[in-house]
Order: sequence, then C-alpha cells, then structure tokens
Amino acid sequence: MKNNKNFSDFFYRKAKLLKLKSRSWFKIKEINNREKIFYDNIKIVDLGSSPGGWSKFASDYTSNSIIFSCDILDMDYIKNVFFLNVIY
Ligand SMILES: C[S@@+](CC[C@H](N)C(=O)[O-])C[C@H]1O[C@@H](n2cnc3c(N)ncnc32)[C@H](O)[C@@H]1O
Repeated sequence: MKNNKNFSDFFYRKAKLLKLKSRSWFKIKEINNREKIFYDNIKIVDLGSSPGGWSKFASDYTSNSIIFSCDILDMDYIKNVFFLNVIY
C-alpha cells in the first residue's frame, strides 16, 4: 500500500518532474504572481534556504540580481546564487 503522503502530492510530483529542488518553488511562484516581489537588479537574502526551492525561483525569475542564501544544512549549487553553509 502506498501510504506515503508525498506520493499523492501533485506539487511534489511536479517538482520531481521538472527537477526542482522542492515544491516550495511553486509556493513562492504563487506569492510572486500575487505580490510581484521578484524583479531584476535586486538583492535577495534567503535565510534558511535549503534545499533551495526559493533560491532557485529567485535565480529563475530575476536577472542581474544578487542572491545570497544560507542554511545550517548544505545545498546543491544553484546558478547565480551565493550559498553559505553556516555552522554554529
Ligand atoms: C522549510 S526549510 C526552507 C525551505 C526553502 N525555503 C526552500 O524553498 O527550499 C527551513 C530551513 O531553515 C533552516 N534553518 C533552521 N534554523 C536555521 C538557522 N538557525 N540558521 C540557518 N538555517 C536554519 C533549516 O535547516 C531548513 O533547511
């Protein structure tokens, strides 16, 4: 029996299909469609960024911007994103 919650999660499967870091990419896309928070030539700080859904979205939807991300967990490389793995 497939009782894994994620199995039936539409956005989880969509994220997998599109090779996205996480389904949060769709969440921030929805927020951006409503609030228009991402545009070109801006500075973005993503605190607690891993696995990188929001950073990836920022990278995809802005150009000529500075994206600084950090997390206590490691994160895969994302184009145009400066990542700092913070260790306390
Ligand atoms: C819900 S996840 C963020 C998901 C991310 N926004 C995305 O789009 O993929 C929350 C993250 O916050 C990080 N975190 C929690 N406390 C932290 C701290 N004190 N310093 C840095 N990162 C922290 C966790 O390691 C975790 O990866």
